[in-house]
Amino acid sequence: YNQIYIFLILHYILFYSEGIIGGREAVPHSRPYMASIQVQEGENMKHECGGFVVADQWVMTAVHCLPNGRKVVLGVHSLSEPEDEKQTFDILELHNNPTFSASNYDNDIALIKLDRPFNASEAVRAVEYLRAGGTNPDTDAEVETAGWGSLNNLGSRPDKLQEVVVEVVRPTRCSRGDYFGRKFTSNMICAHKGDSGGPLLYNGVAVGITSNGGMKCGQIRKPGIYTIISHYTDGNTTYKA
Ligand SMILES: *[C@@H]1O[C@H](CO)[C@@H](O)[C@H](O)[C@H]1NC(C)=O
Ligand SMILES: *[C@@H]1O[C@H](CO)[C@@H](O)[C@H](O)[C@H]1NC(C)=O
Repeated sequence: YNQIYIFLILHYILFYSEGIIGGREAVPHSRPYMASIQVQEGENMKHECGGFVVADQWVMTAVHCLPNGRKVVLGVHSLSEPEDEKQTFDILELHNNPTFSASNYDNDIALIKLDRPFNASEAVRAVEYLRAGGTNPDTDAEVETAGWGSLNNLGSRPDKLQEVVVEVVRPTRCSRGDYFGRKFTSNMICAHKGDSGGPLLYNGVAVGITSNGGMKCGQIRKPGIYTIISHYTDGNTTYKA
């Protein structure tokens, strides 16, 4: 992890919730890499953002999730129910990509080091992610995303993990003026919206991180935006300079 840049300045940008529309409940613990980043509210913990486990003490997420000071819960299916599979962690280190842009969410990729390694189980396991030079999905390819984000435009939030299969949208469409215009960069994949910080999977490999360019779920009839992971990874779990 020697190439990771420790980014000391927290970006004070608004957090927008985004969501999974038209998905279905996942089979419990069938996506054991899913992480829920939560904030303490009184006695309760509230889901704020998704993430996914990439190594025994590391979770990948989006910079715009601002996970600093939050808890990371692994092995979750239901957010509200006590589940034996759940393991809760503090954040030991947060590595935001130093080139993150708050204006268009370019380079929206962060790594969290958990305060201790997780106990691997059927419900908690790392997912493979695409390394530099790997093949990203083309336009119309089927990809999947999962999370606990909003189910509809009214923002009702699911208690149980949702998943959805979507297709990659042509980049030239997403860079149109009535879509994202010049805010859409070559570091982004455009597809149906997911839950911020969560993974976009292609053939079971994480290729993207839900970023959504700061758009609220269903805010406009626009697809979601995902950070292309392989633009930031070399052979090891590191950011490229
Ligand atoms: C892993 O399991 C051991 C033994 O049951 C326990 O002491 C430890 O707290 C667990 N670690 C986590 C991260 O939950
Ligand atoms: C990954 O890291 C190891 C240990 O630092 C190094 O030996 C290896 O060459 C690296 N692999 C790549 C593909 O950079």
